[in-house]
Amino acid sequence: PSPIRIALLGCGTVGSQVARILLADAEDLGNRAGAPLELVGVAVRTLDAQRDVELPDGLLTLDAESLVANADIVIELMGGMEPAKSLILRAIDHGAAVVSGNKALLAQDGPELYEQADAAGVQLSYEAAVAGAIPILRPIRDSLSGDRITRVLGIVNGTTNYILDQMDSTGARFADALKTAQDLGYAEADPTADIEGHDAAAKAAILASLSFHTRFALENVFFEGITSVTAQDIASAAEDGYVVKLLAIAELLGDASGADGVGVRVHPTLLPRSHPLAAVRGAFNAVFVEAENAGELMFYGQGAGGTPTASAVLGDVVSAARRMVLGGPGRTETTTGHVPALGIDAVRTSYCIALQVV
Ligand code: HSE
Repeated sequence: PSPIRIALLGCGTVGSQVARILLADAEDLGNRAGAPLELVGVAVRTLDAQRDVELPDGLLTLDAESLVANADIVIELMGGMEPAKSLILRAIDHGAAVVSGNKALLAQDGPELYEQADAAGVQLSYEAAVAGAIPILRPIRDSLSGDRITRVLGIVNGTTNYILDQMDSTGARFADALKTAQDLGYAEADPTADIEGHDAAAKAAILASLSFHTRFALENVFFEGITSVTAQDIASAAEDGYVVKLLAIAELLGDASGADGVGVRVHPTLLPRSHPLAAVRGAFNAVFVEAENAGELMFYGQGAGGTPTASAVLGDVVSAARRMVLGGPGRTETTTGHVPALGIDAVRTSYCIALQVV
């Protein structure tokens, strides 16, 4: 099969890791997709900026529009509203599949972009936009599509979870915990979107849209951040057996008919210490899903960072490429035969299986 041409827009923390892995693991990824995956260019704002990863000469370009026009899959990791939105629309127009990690854009203009993609019959996927490495959107959209989700509770912002966890475990004040988060590189130099709840609200809108098959935008989400949570609040909560967590909550109100609507909110909450989400420490993320038939499910992992988020992006890329190769829903058989399957005798001699500590 002919190579699938991939254009990458943006080469920041996540983009540079996506480029690195696409180049380093090209053979494996191509085998899984069913066709070679060729990174044809990386659009950046300036050519001579300092980058996390060294890329081959000639791959970087300032001309994002031409790159998009010549690609089968466009990965948008520029962030911000424009030119990201126009470039995604151009890619859709051109018939390319789009993979994006741009939560702010999707929370604001997602409905328009999904409509355009549906009308053009192209795939628009965005697993990386919510909770970084955690595969959460596809399980909600696909695996749980035969069930009825009644409530989603998410720790979807690592910076604020880190700050609240520091306050809880060390008794630190908010300002000091924020400073530690910044020193460790968790919080941005301007942490406003994280600590005011804006970032979690964008993710909540995306989670709610997929969970309840209704389009939610940022304007539907009530949000309040953690800036007014005091050391005293945390200590009092601890005395009563609670931990303070910033949760994104989307829940069906009234009975399961959905007639009473779905409320979406982000705010500091008191979570019983026995709840599985209370065990989510540091900068980790987790999403707790309650469904009528499946019951309770929890998805846990790294919600930010270059390589974890790149994992989610590349999953979307391989999945889009599979669809291109085979058409329709893509191939379900993912065996490539590149890793040998050991017989049980080999396994038995390689490990002592009795009460092994893992
Ligand atoms: N600032 C975000 C966080 C990054 O702290 O979780 C991932 O979206």
